[in-house]
Amino acid sequence: MLKKRIGILTSGGDCPGLNAAIRSLGKTAILRHDFEVVGFLSGFAGLINNEYIILDEDKLSGILTLGGTILGTSREKPFKKYESESEKVDSKPELIKKNYESLGLECLICIGGNGTQKTAHKLSKMGLNVIGLPKTIDNDIWGTDITFGFDSAVSIATEAIDRLHTTANSHRRIMVVEVMGHHAGWLALYAGIASGGDVILLPEIPYTLETIADYLENRFRRRKPYSIVVVAEGISIPESLREKYYSPAHYIADSIQKLTGLECRETVLGYVQRGGTPTAFDRILATRLGSYAIELITKRKFNRMVCVKDGHIDSVKLDEVSGRLKLVDPDHPMIEEARALGTCFGNENRR
Ligand code: F6P
Repeated sequence: MLKKRIGILTSGGDCPGLNAAIRSLGKTAILRHDFEVVGFLSGFAGLINNEYIILDEDKLSGILTLGGTILGTSREKPFKKYESESEKVDSKPELIKKNYESLGLECLICIGGNGTQKTAHKLSKMGLNVIGLPKTIDNDIWGTDITFGFDSAVSIATEAIDRLHTTANSHRRIMVVEVMGHHAGWLALYAGIASGGDVILLPEIPYTLETIADYLENRFRRRKPYSIVVVAEGISIPESLREKYYSPAHYIADSIQKLTGLECRETVLGYVQRGGTPTAFDRILATRLGSYAIELITKRKFNRMVCVKDGHIDSVKLDEVSGRLKLVDPDHPMIEEARALGTCFGNENRR
């Protein structure tokens, strides 16, 4: 009897924990259910071009602690219309459906962020059986309390900001550090609090330069030797100034120095936040989500995204997740707790 066959792919920005998820769902599928596992290369591009490897125990061995993804990833968006697509050839979604059907897949597991879950949902509307597995360092996927990749990125950013404290103190400087988080400020909030940031700027909370400058001058007057400003890459900066500054951190540092006369320097952490081995938390979360995804398939509960809900592994309809972002609520308790410690979020009215 032919083995049941499932397909998996990793799509979007990579992050620590992807290989832990691949390992878990692959081993659960092979060892417990005797499935054959097809690993598509470079995200949806591999599915469009029918480029894949067969994942067996050997390929899944030794990857738990490995950063990145053994399958590779891409930001291919199959449903995004391109002028060059002539009507005559099959569209990308049609190619996906053809390859899915010719391989006789039982289900396709899409490991990725918001864009990936949206694509997975659209493929389910074409009749494919899909399961979404949420992944992103941004932690901005609606429908799950947390995503793997986030804890690792918070740890990496925190360790980096800890180092900025010592050099800021030596030079009596203000250090502005930019963390990732295109739409949501979860990384800046968590890493900012964990690393003792004095100012934390989130996309969700509008700030004024004057508020920040007043706060930092006040610290200077109180003989604080240095300050740490943590900003999310997604904070707003004046459109007219985007050309002048290479990043939001550069804009904030330059503006604060001009307003206060205090010496500022900026650091953009960038892709280091997505690299290297996952934390233990992310290894465990990715492992649990991976095996749960396989269990959903055996129960034929398709077109859902596995998730964490109130601390439990669960699933939610892709219908409900697609196109929605989980942003930081300005009334989040962690913000009030940080304010109580004297942290500035850029919108306080000077008392
Ligand atoms: O979505 C995760 C993320 O790291 C964002 O925080 C960041 O803005 C984006 O990916 C960078 O995208 P790319 O890897 O395509 O440059």
